[in-house]
Amino acid sequence: MKAVNFRLNDEPVTVHVEPARRMTRVLREQLGFTGTKVGCDAGDCGACTVLMDDRAVCACMLPAGRLEGKNIITVEGLANSHDGELNALQKSFLHHGAAQCGICTPGMLMSATALLKRNPKPDQQEVEDALGGYCVVVPAIERSSMP
Ligand code: FES
Repeated sequence: MKAVNFRLNDEPVTVHVEPARRMTRVLREQLGFTGTKVGCDAGDCGACTVLMDDRAVCACMLPAGRLEGKNIITVEGLANSHDGELNALQKSFLHHGAAQCGICTPGMLMSATALLKRNPKPDQQEVEDALGGYCVVVPAIERSSMP
């Protein structure tokens, strides 16, 4: 076990984890942040997307040992922390019914957030590319070493 310190939705967090434990498990099972969903659990679908230092990353492929000093934002961090009001992107998803079964909606919101942070006026192709299930696998890890 190792103590790992990072920021989660603008709050300091310390977790005691095996360094190879997947971020999705840390978020959901240790910290109770269940907004981040698990789809493929293999870095392919984007359902688990979170922001790490403003980049869209696959939490299912992110080992907890890589979180030291990082700034992580999950879907729970998008709404106003004081009154829970949804942000403009969440309201837009809601208004347009931008969900299918809903399991990937948090990942789509996080991917869209990352896109808008780097490009506030994306074109159609850039939106489609960003929401195509793409998240960064950090780093390529041997799956057999991940609990
Ligand atoms: S759960 Fe599919 S990319 Fe992580």
